[in-house]
Amino acid sequence: MPFLPVLARETRHMGFIATMSTSFYAPFILARTMATMDHLTRGRVGWNVVTSSEDLAARNYGMDALPPHDERYDRADEFVEVVKALWDSWEPGAVVMDAGAGRYADHTKVHPIHHVGKYHRVRGPLNMPAGPQGHPVLCQAGGSPRGRDFAAKHADTILSALVSVPKMKAYRDDVRALATAHGRSPDDVKVMYIVSPVLGETEAEAREQARLAFGMDRLQVEATLAIISAVTEVDFLQFDLDAELPEGITTNGHQSILDDFVRRNRGRTLREALPERARLGARRHARRRAGPDGRDDAGGAAATASSSGSSRPAATPAATSTRSRAGSPPHCAGAA
Ligand SMILES: Cc1cc2nc3c(=O)[nH]c(=O)nc-3n(C[C@H](O)[C@H](O)[C@H](O)COP(=O)(O)O)c2cc1C
Repeated sequence: MPFLPVLARETRHMGFIATMSTSFYAPFILARTMATMDHLTRGRVGWNVVTSSEDLAARNYGMDALPPHDERYDRADEFVEVVKALWDSWEPGAVVMDAGAGRYADHTKVHPIHHVGKYHRVRGPLNMPAGPQGHPVLCQAGGSPRGRDFAAKHADTILSALVSVPKMKAYRDDVRALATAHGRSPDDVKVMYIVSPVLGETEAEAREQARLAFGMDRLQVEATLAIISAVTEVDFLQFDLDAELPEGITTNGHQSILDDFVRRNRGRTLREALPERARLGARRHARRRAGPDGRDDAGGAAATASSSGSSRPAATPAATSTRSRAGSPPHCAGAA
């Protein structure tokens, strides 16, 4: 989050999306911070709404463990409603800036929200008017049934890391149907898929780059195991690398990521499953790589900033050697 204005100052056309967790922040400070960033960037920011997935992260915020997966989304639902109400707590035209009359704002257009819910109690109003966008762009990446429903209800844009066209299509169809069920136009929810090509001057060079990046030497194996363990909250070091994964692994972390990993790798050993996972990890890292001058660069500038208290490893050694640049619009943030 603190990088947003710094990055925005160096660019003119890019938007920046920061990740913040509804499990660790309070709605008031989040609404205030995002509104400040929206003013500073003249309306070029968004919020990647996440619920977090790591008990280790939760222990940085006075909890022993995260609440159950679906309940985290219940809390997030209420959280987002409160944040939106705070952004709306100053009506348009509330700021009058009448120095002669000594009046900054018309108080009849600034309203407390008096929210009392299951998870949050917030009086409001926000202590500042919302920024140029009113509501900054809301980004999400829910993959589980509860996560998809949440994304379809609130998100302007959704990122997904699915890897086959039929799965991408089914996901988009589902999100659009859920958005309709929430009374939204499905066209208001833009679904984007993460693609990270490995580039080279020739095909041979690109293949060599890919081999270097995903060749899975011992360090890369360890780093990939660390990443999949952190994302899923399951310690993959306990499993035999040269055997199939056992049945029945469950998590209170990112369920859809674990389910997808297990389903896609039936019939493969864990070692055989890792290269594909490393490529997905590298996608995240690719989003962190800036263009040569760190400015608006053909989709490669790093627009990632994460503030959700993660203890997750930042990047794989594999990822640091790839030359890939993700050609994506405003990027959702990295590990948390
Ligand atoms: C690009 C991207 C960045 C993400 N960043 C975070 C993050 O920083 N913190 C987090 O808790 N989840 C993050 N996620 C995970 C999603 O918010 C979501 O929890 C995950 O896709 C699994 O969905 P599920 O919880 O519905 O199973 C990210 C996902 C993507 C695709």
